Amino acid sequence: MDFTLSEEQLMIKQAAKDFAQSELLPGVIERDETQTFPNELVQKMGQLGFLGMMVNEKYGGSGLDTLSYVLAMEELSKVDASASVMVSVNNSLVCWGLETYGTEAQKEKYLTRLASGEIIGAFCLSEPEAGSDATSQKTTAIDKGDHYILNGTKNWITNGNRAEVYLVIAQTHVEKGHHGINALIVEKGMEGFEIGPKENKLGIRGSDTHSLLFNDVKVPKENRIGEDGFGFKFAMKTLAGGRIGIAAQALGIAAGAYELALQYSKQRKAFGTEIANHQAIAFKLADMHTKIQAARHLVYQAACDKDAKRDYTLSGAMAKLYASEVAMETAIEAVQVHGGNGYVKDYHVERLMRDAKITQIYEGTSEIQKIVISRSILKD
Ligand code: CAA
Repeated sequence: MDFTLSEEQLMIKQAAKDFAQSELLPGVIERDETQTFPNELVQKMGQLGFLGMMVNEKYGGSGLDTLSYVLAMEELSKVDASASVMVSVNNSLVCWGLETYGTEAQKEKYLTRLASGEIIGAFCLSEPEAGSDATSQKTTAIDKGDHYILNGTKNWITNGNRAEVYLVIAQTHVEKGHHGINALIVEKGMEGFEIGPKENKLGIRGSDTHSLLFNDVKVPKENRIGEDGFGFKFAMKTLAGGRIGIAAQALGIAAGAYELALQYSKQRKAFGTEIANHQAIAFKLADMHTKIQAARHLVYQAACDKDAKRDYTLSGAMAKLYASEVAMETAIEAVQVHGGNGYVKDYHVERLMRDAKITQIYEGTSEIQKIVISRSILKD
């Protein structure tokens, strides 16, 4: 597999790197501490085209490939995973879902504004009792002819308060199980739609995570995505691509932690020499570098599969599973390399360690990825 990057891809990687260093880095510790969503930075990311990277230019997107998107995700995530999860959800789950399965009217009304970053979106599948077990949807969308009446609660929703457009998965025909589920476009401000409390999280604290409450919300039928009953397939297909974005985020967290550890180990002295000269540290760096490169190949492979229109469910799940493990492991080791300094906020690695954990949980836990992978390899 040849992963030589084109000039355009290299430019995008560099643009994301420059933005991360000059704009995201300066306030990242404070945003983490105060759980502040980077409103102004989101606007700038929209202007730079990071919020609708793969969307066709005719809908206001950047018209780029998935590989460009993962390159940008990696660079942003090296510095600020709270900002990058917002980028990932808007690109992979909301924009991609709408562009691929939405009607022309839905694209014109919502996608153009989402792709340009004028507004951002949220993807609402998880519920208090339907996380990994996503077919057990308790939120209902009852068919009332020209509209649905939506009732229920969604949990841990990224961009929960900051979004304007929400893709909500809900059960319409209980007797049909997952074939009776629909995906509806819900707008902020619709009567009966309430934003619940913000979650006080271990990591990605700058991202805006809320529960959402729907109480007799009237959603017009033209806001349904796809045919009646397509909602669960919609969620699965969308998440298959979303997992590539989160895999790239995990890769970025790992690479960010590694780069900090490498730099630190060449400056910090102990026992009369830079700690990089001690094999205990050098071997940690060797392990990190090797695993990150392996993760990068899996992430690029999944992105290339998607761009080549090959099936990417398996490669995306493998990339997410492995890259998130590498992120966690690398971030823990980066803290260890930093010693006491690693345990304080100024050195960034403790934040990356806290941020890494979520990549093993959202958009399908590691255990769910193993279900997806094992079913795929056992089916033939
Ligand atoms: N593409 C298309 N269809 C798919 C699919 C895919 N990748 N995966 C499953 N399906 C279809 C199946 O074919 C099946 O349909 P049919 O009956 O018509 O064949 C249907 O979906 C149900 O599939 P299963 O029978 O396999 O259902 P299951 O209950 O055994 O398991 C699961 C499915 C893979 C475990 C699924 O429930 C799952 O992915 N769970 C994890 C959910 C998840 O990732 N949540 C993340 C929340 S979003 C988030 O985190 C966003 C954020 O804010 C960051």
